[in-house]
Amino acid sequence: MNANEVLTKIINKVSAEAERLGYAIPYIPDETGHYTDAESIYWWTNGFWAGMLWQLYHATGDELFKKTAESSEKRLDAALDGFENIDHDAGFLWLHTAGANYRLTQNKRSERRLLHAATTLAGRYNPNLEIIRAWDGQWMKGYDTAGGAIIDTMMNLPLLYLASEITGDNRFKYIAICHADTMLKYMLRSDGSSNHQIVFDTNTGEFIANPGGQGYASGSSWSRGQAWAVYGYALSYRHTGETRYLDAAKRAASYFISNALLTDYVPLADFRAPDEPVYFDTTAGAISACGLLEIAEHTDDTEKTLYIENAKKLIEAIDKNWCDYDIHTDGIVDGGSVSYHAEKHHEKIIYGDYFFTEAILRILNKDFLIW
Ligand code: GLY
Repeated sequence: MNANEVLTKIINKVSAEAERLGYAIPYIPDETGHYTDAESIYWWTNGFWAGMLWQLYHATGDELFKKTAESSEKRLDAALDGFENIDHDAGFLWLHTAGANYRLTQNKRSERRLLHAATTLAGRYNPNLEIIRAWDGQWMKGYDTAGGAIIDTMMNLPLLYLASEITGDNRFKYIAICHADTMLKYMLRSDGSSNHQIVFDTNTGEFIANPGGQGYASGSSWSRGQAWAVYGYALSYRHTGETRYLDAAKRAASYFISNALLTDYVPLADFRAPDEPVYFDTTAGAISACGLLEIAEHTDDTEKTLYIENAKKLIEAIDKNWCDYDIHTDGIVDGGSVSYHAEKHHEKIIYGDYFFTEAILRILNKDFLIW
C-alpha cells in the first residue's frame, strides 16, 4: 500500500462528496449508493463527517473542507439547544466539530460549544456508581439505563480532558478518570478482551449484569467495542500520564491483534461468536489501527514496531479489499457492521471512513489530534 496514493484517492472522493452533499450530514449510503441527510440531529455519528473534513483541511488547506465542516458544527446547535437526546456520545459529536475547529482556529464560538457539550457530558456522571451514564431510555435490553455504562464512552472522555485543559478546572478530568477506572475494574477481562456494557444497581451500587450489547451475547467479544478499548485507554494515557491506562491499552491491543490476524486482519464483528454466519467489521479494524498508532507514540523503539506494523496491516487489509474510491458513489470503506445482530452487514458507515482517513494521515504524519 502506498499511503500517499491512498490519501490522494480519499481527497478526491471526499471533495466530490462535499460538493454533492452541501450541508447534509451523512451516515450510511442508501440503496442508490448515495448519502442522505442524518435522520436525527442527535445521532451519535453526526460528528465524523466534519472530523474527516477537518483532518483533510489540516492536511491540504482546501477551504471546501473547512466550509463544509463548519456547516455541520452550526447544525449541531439544534442538538445542544434541544438537549433531550444528548448522551455519552457528546464527545463524538462535539470533539469532531467544535473541538476540531477550536484546535485549528481558536474560534471562540467553537470553544463555547465544546465547553457546553463537555458540561452536559459531565452532568451524566453518577458519583455513587463512578460511571458516566450511557443512554437514557430503553437501550439496554430490559435493564435500567440509569445504572448503565459502556466501553464506547472511553472515546468521549477526551472532551472532558479538553474542557479541563481550556478552563483549568479539574472537575472534568476527575470525572473522566473515575469513569476510566471503573471501566478498568469491570470491563476489561484478564485476557485483554472487553465487555461492551455494564449495569449497576443505582441504589446499592452493586454489579448487576454485562449485557451483550452490540456483540453476539454477554461474555462474547464485540470487536468494535474492543477497538474502543484499545484507542480509548491509549487516549486516557495521553491526557493523564497514568501508566495503568497505557498498560490496559496494550492488553486490549494484544487481544485485538491476535484475533484479527486469524482472518487476515479483517476483524470479525465479534471475536467470540459461532463460526457461522461470518460477519466482518472493517470499522473495528480502522479504529484499532488508530489506537495502535496512538500507543506507538507512547512506547520506546523496542515496542513501536509491533504497534505500527500491525496498524499498517489492518489498514492495508481494508485498502486491498474493502475500499470504493469511485468519486461518483458515496462512502469509502465497505464491510462495516453496525452490530452483530443488525439486519444488514458489510456496509459503508461514516465512522469507517473517518478512522481509515485518520490512520492514513497518522501513517503520513499529516494528522492532527481531534481526541
Ligand atoms: N458507539 C456505538 C457504536 O460503536 O456502534
